[in-house]
Amino acid sequence: MPNMDKAISINNQLVKIPTHVAIIVDGNGRWAKERGLTRMKGHDAGFKNLKKLANHIFDRGVKVISFYVFSTENFKRSEEEVSHLMDIFVKMCRFELKTFMKNNIRVIFSGADEPLPKKVIEARDWIADQTKENTGGIMNFCLNYGGRAEIVNAVKRIAAEKNPEEIAELTEQDFAKYLYQDLPDVDFMIRTSGEQRLSNFLLWQNSYAEFYFPETKFPDFNAEDFDQALIEYTRRDRRFGAIKNA
Ligand code: IPE
Ligand code: IPE
Ligand code: MG
Repeated sequence: MPNMDKAISINNQLVKIPTHVAIIVDGNGRWAKERGLTRMKGHDAGFKNLKKLANHIFDRGVKVISFYVFSTENFKRSEEEVSHLMDIFVKMCRFELKTFMKNNIRVIFSGADEPLPKKVIEARDWIADQTKENTGGIMNFCLNYGGRAEIVNAVKRIAAEKNPEEIAELTEQDFAKYLYQDLPDVDFMIRTSGEQRLSNFLLWQNSYAEFYFPETKFPDFNAEDFDQALIEYTRRDRRFGAIKNA
């Protein structure tokens, strides 16, 4: 079932609000390079922006935001950059609890454990546990996430738990329950910085999402840019394979 969009008015313009927004936060490195800064400074600016932007997106009425913050492939980067990013994740989990509680946001994660450092796994599981009763919105961090790995992981779990008769009867809805998180499909997928590819992001969940590729690099992608994105989303005709007005 497609998610049912609600509509709100922004500057006297009626816009549709997607239930699940997924964002590939891309361009931190190039943003920093343009300013003569290190890539680490770019990630710091990106995470500062992520916190602000998430508040705005939830204020607009979006229920679930998935942020792609670290792919399984990102372990190919330098030690310095990987460990800086890991430190950012740990700090976010340890120090943002108050904000998540105030805004009633549940924090969850999608991704594999291996080869995350123990301190990241502990901080991740701690914040997820602390916020598990919150009902105002879901922030899904795709951390050490790979879309193909997620599907293979689901297949392995199904094979271990179910007998051949059950597997023969398996539906798409049943399968989706074995993904890292049981979430509604993505309605709107945004990748900042002008790159137009998925890079292994939510392959199953993005099946019928609308895609949007702003040129703005993530640290500069602000509330106004998001509202502009909503205007574009509103213009899209989501047919889900059917013929409208037939
Ligand atoms: C995305 O920005 C952030 C993460 C991977 C965590 P990049 O670091 O990929 O920035 P660019 O693409 O090099 O500009
Ligand atoms: C995708 O961005 C992963 C994240 C933003 C976390 P990358 O910058 O790593 O992707 P590629 O290498 O350009 O495809
Ligand atoms: Mg990138």
